[in-house]
Amino acid sequence: MVNDQMQTFIQKIPKAELHVHIEGTLEPEHMFQLAEKNAVRLKYPSVNKLRNAYRFQDLQSFLEIYYEGTNVLITEQDFYDLTWQYLEKRYLENVIHAEIFFDPQSHLCRKVPFEVVINGISKALEDGEKKLNLSSKLIMCFLRHLSEKSAMETLEESIPYKDKIIGVGLDSTELNNPPSKFTEVFQKAISFGYLPVAHAGEEGSPEYIWEAIDKLKVLRVDHGVRCLEDESLVAQLIKKKIPLTVCPLSNVQLGIFKSLGEHNLKELINAGLFITINSDDPAYFGGYLSENYLGVYKALKLTREDICTLVRNSFEASFLNDADKKSMLVKVQSFINQGLQ
Ligand code: ADE
Ligand code: ZN
Repeated sequence: MVNDQMQTFIQKIPKAELHVHIEGTLEPEHMFQLAEKNAVRLKYPSVNKLRNAYRFQDLQSFLEIYYEGTNVLITEQDFYDLTWQYLEKRYLENVIHAEIFFDPQSHLCRKVPFEVVINGISKALEDGEKKLNLSSKLIMCFLRHLSEKSAMETLEESIPYKDKIIGVGLDSTELNNPPSKFTEVFQKAISFGYLPVAHAGEEGSPEYIWEAIDKLKVLRVDHGVRCLEDESLVAQLIKKKIPLTVCPLSNVQLGIFKSLGEHNLKELINAGLFITINSDDPAYFGGYLSENYLGVYKALKLTREDICTLVRNSFEASFLNDADKKSMLVKVQSFINQGLQ
């Protein structure tokens, strides 16, 4: 298929996204608008200067700007509006299901209550379900540069809102913050019924992926691209059918790979791993979900069938119940059968 046709195909095919941080969908214009409304001082004097600062050397240099951005989110309406803007984008590119991360600790530390964050996000998600027919689930991430004690306190705070949260995740500075630091809090979260996932093997070594599997009992690994450095790890991921939520544009923007053409996605697929495509922090990394698919399609010369497999995987690897999974996969297949009409 020529690129134009493929662009339309990718945009229209029903898709799921399993790795997107809601705070990472905050567009610079919205950030400035909220900063003014809430009288929060930003380090950058204009939208253009801020956008120019989106040149990251590594994960840490991104996180510094990302956390600065989150400072403008104060009221329930701010969280609602942030989420609603993401939902409108999803609607346009037919992302019919998403499992969305949020970082409560980056708000709690600024005295924004848990209740404000979760109510703003989940009210928007409920409206998205009703008005746009978009399905969503929420995953609460612990910030790994903070202590396990802080994660444990956050876990306790989440309990009254447990029905709104499907799982727990682990994000922020990976190097020197191994998954094993969070063994107890994950164990406790699992005992409460949360489904565990964790960022591992983005910048960190394959050992971190092993720990995420063995100590945190994760059901998916977020990123995980460094698994190819360890053959026995690849075998274990395949044996346990553990999906990887790969984020191509993010990986390039954070210097994990020099370009999309040098991304190891094809090797991951060819190794027999269970791979999905995701956007991570789309407002910062130059594209939402369709741009990630189209980017790798072009740069790695993927086939239309590769794209269809990755899209099916996005539903198979989700935390949807079997009936919802099946009905969404039927939508995917009927779109594929219909072709471009
Ligand atoms: N928080 C937001 N995006 C992240 C990423 N790509 N890695 C770790 N923590 C994050
Ligand atoms: Zn992420």
